[in-house]
Amino acid sequence: MSDQSPFDVDVETMTRFVMEQGRKAKGTGEFTQLLNSLLTAIKAISCAVRKAGLAHMYGIAGTVNVTGDEVKKLDLLSNDLVINMLRSSYSTCILVSEENKEAIIVDPEKRGKYLVCFDPLDGSSNIDCLAPIGTIFGIHRKAIGEFILVEQNVKIKKKGVIYSLNEGYAKYFDPALTEYIQRKKFPEDGSAPYSARYVGSMVADVHRTLKYGGIFMYPASKKTPKGKLRLLYECNPMAFIMEQAGGIATTGTQPVLDVKPESIHQRVPLIMGSPDDVEEFLSFVKKHQTSA
Ligand code: AHG
Ligand code: MN
Ligand code: MN
Repeated sequence: MSDQSPFDVDVETMTRFVMEQGRKAKGTGEFTQLLNSLLTAIKAISCAVRKAGLAHMYGIAGTVNVTGDEVKKLDLLSNDLVINMLRSSYSTCILVSEENKEAIIVDPEKRGKYLVCFDPLDGSSNIDCLAPIGTIFGIHRKAIGEFILVEQNVKIKKKGVIYSLNEGYAKYFDPALTEYIQRKKFPEDGSAPYSARYVGSMVADVHRTLKYGGIFMYPASKKTPKGKLRLLYECNPMAFIMEQAGGIATTGTQPVLDVKPESIHQRVPLIMGSPDDVEEFLSFVKKHQTSA
């Protein structure tokens, strides 16, 4: 019989991991401070999300955000939590949020060297039905413009068996996308068709794509010629994670991470996932370009 208590478990919490890595890096502690502040905000958001019904946080706040979407009360609360925690972390200089038209400049006495772009609550149309929602963030070092990976060794499958997009918009799809999706349903080589999955929260759809493989898309279409998702705080952070995991993230014409931002709320088409799946999609794009 083991003499170890069943309760004697050694849990690697995110906070502990961040502190350990910070100590190893022998830095100033500013990045550790930033991540810990962000973690505190995210824990508070998670707590608010869990008790949203009791606290009457469901429902629309009655305003629209800068990109025209309905703003829910939880979006506003989440936004305030992230901004307040980051401001008081003494590690940031500029904050770009989905919910704020202008970038937020941190007061000089609280300024640090990191710029943070975030979507405080992605998937807000899913709040009322309790589907997965979450916070997306990208961290850049002032001038250097580098994303920092916060999870280690996540690898995506070379090829998956799931396609994920809002197929309700099929009427607006271009011919390459239409043919690609048709091939996923009716493979010409006699293989099994792909499964369709779409939560409508990018955080959930991308998470599943990382875990199970396959392809996630919010493509350009006649309805949304530039896609819907925002480059700085939706596409770029996810594209970075996807590439680190061995996947591909493209706009259909170039890697997402190569797009030069022109404005803080800029949208780009997004196709990401397992390398073989994304390459296959791009081969359909190419085929239709050459036949056009
Ligand atoms: P947000 O809730 O931050 O506005 O973002 C929602 C996004 C994203 O999570 C999802 O992939 C997409 O909008 C869903 O849009 P459709 O309803 O047009 O499919
Ligand atoms: Mn979002
Ligand atoms: Mn949002």
